[in-house]
Amino acid sequence: MKFLAPSILSADFWKLGEQIQACIEGGADIIHFDVMDGHFVPNITFGPVLLESIKRHCSLPLDAHLMIENPDRYIPDFIKAGADMVSVHIENTPHIHRTLDLIKSFGAKAGVVINPGTSLRVLEEALHYADFVLLMSVNPGFGGQRFIERSLQRLRKLRAMVDRINPNILIEVDGGIKEENIQEVARAGADILVVGSGVFGAKDIKAQTKRLKDLITFSEVL
Ligand code: DX5
Ligand code: ZN
Repeated sequence: MKFLAPSILSADFWKLGEQIQACIEGGADIIHFDVMDGHFVPNITFGPVLLESIKRHCSLPLDAHLMIENPDRYIPDFIKAGADMVSVHIENTPHIHRTLDLIKSFGAKAGVVINPGTSLRVLEEALHYADFVLLMSVNPGFGGQRFIERSLQRLRKLRAMVDRINPNILIEVDGGIKEENIQEVARAGADILVVGSGVFGAKDIKAQTKRLKDLITFSEVL
């Protein structure tokens, strides 16, 4: 089973509710929230208050990707606001075992994120404790960037690592995924595919969501 996770970073915030509703009607499985603090990444987005509003109206799982300094401080707030999945970057979470435990202790699924320039080797230990791993296929901070080609080899290598260490983990891939490459990413081992501008840049968001969902569903059979 493959899951589609639209990233609202690329949405029109004037019409955010209706655009998320269009994703839901188009068959989206998860809503991805890119939380940025202007320190860990050179951009600032939104906090728990946005998840709270969305949670009141959206029954899909909410996936909070924390691109922030000192994530431990904010994990409880995001989960209380409605995050069902919370991921933190291995690059700035020195106590990753404790942080993943913290996420789980508040009842959310715990994810570890890795940037395109970080060796997969640093994940070896964390994969024993995570519920999912988020492989960045762009440098974090912005939507609309190009998919970093080497990410496909990394994804295949990560798939083999996960199958060896902890086959229950889901692999999420994030950044630069579009209609043209989504099937290849799905076939290379992604379970959850994050798409931002590839969804919200479309004229008809519901139809585009359905098209992408069909592509990943059929990637398993064709
Ligand atoms: C980048 C974010 C991604 C991004 C995806 O820092 O983590 O989730 O919003 O957007 P696209 O699909 O446009 O690359
Ligand atoms: Zn993201």
